[in-house]
Amino acid sequence: MSDKNIIIEKDEGIITVSLNRPDALNALNDALMDELLQAVDNYEKDDSLRCMILTGSEKAFAAGADIKQMQPKSYMDVYKEDFITRNWERVASCRKPIIAAVSGYALGGGCELAMMCDFILASDTAKFGQPEINLGVSPGAGGSQRLTRFIGKSKSMDMCLTGRMMDANEAERSGLVSQVFPSESFLDDVKKVALSVAEKSMVATMMTKEMVNRSYETTLSEGIRFERRLFHSMFATEDKKEGMSAFIDKRKAEFKDK
Ligand code: CAA
Repeated sequence: MSDKNIIIEKDEGIITVSLNRPDALNALNDALMDELLQAVDNYEKDDSLRCMILTGSEKAFAAGADIKQMQPKSYMDVYKEDFITRNWERVASCRKPIIAAVSGYALGGGCELAMMCDFILASDTAKFGQPEINLGVSPGAGGSQRLTRFIGKSKSMDMCLTGRMMDANEAERSGLVSQVFPSESFLDDVKKVALSVAEKSMVATMMTKEMVNRSYETTLSEGIRFERRLFHSMFATEDKKEGMSAFIDKRKAEFKDK
């Protein structure tokens, strides 16, 4: 499949996927989401790639699901084609790290796609929102659930019921975004974060992802039990021996992902 709606670049173990429908502010249509699914599959299989950056343009990360594609669809259409579930959730199920790098609009499905990533870095131009209520519908790609877990009930209700946008500073204050960078140096700053993720042991990274994600799905005591099992299991890895020995020897660890 050729990539028409995304641009893929690979450098220093980092794969950058840029959403690329500039005429539609990167509105997420089925073809784009199929290409993204394929890109995530390929990333997961390729051991030379250690961190993915998912980004858009300066003006828009993505202004939502494609309203023009959704407008003619009936209930039976979306039910039968398993709309959204079929290809969007692949980003959330990826076992390797994905960082969302948001400049400009991240609205509706765009905000939801960013929240499927492991964490969100924002340019100071970023604007987040769940404006689906203005279209006579609701969030449909996890926004009502993930946004509430990120920012709490009151702010999530505010965003979903008024359809207003929040800027990058409010998003950082609310816990939606982990860091905000100046727009002038945004992608360079994001790359530095991605490189610091990429240099770690991939085994430890994947297990840590599993643990943090489990915290959304289970009780505290079960989550801690899950963490402890994985933590103990890492004592069987070569990377644990290398990481701790390197600390004691005062040298940089060389992880082998084993
Ligand atoms: N779907 C399809 N096309 C879109 C789009 C979308 N979500 N968002 C923008 N576009 C298109 C516009 O139709 C326009 O195309 P034309 O030039 O052919 O008319 C082009 O992108 C540029 O958009 P605007 O002229 O509107 O640009 P603007 O700067 O004046 O406004 C904006 C920017 C405020 C983001 C505005 O485009 C907007 O409100 N977009 C829709 C946002 C939205 O409602 N998102 C939620 C979608 S529903 C959803 O996502 C469901 C879900 O949960 C899965």
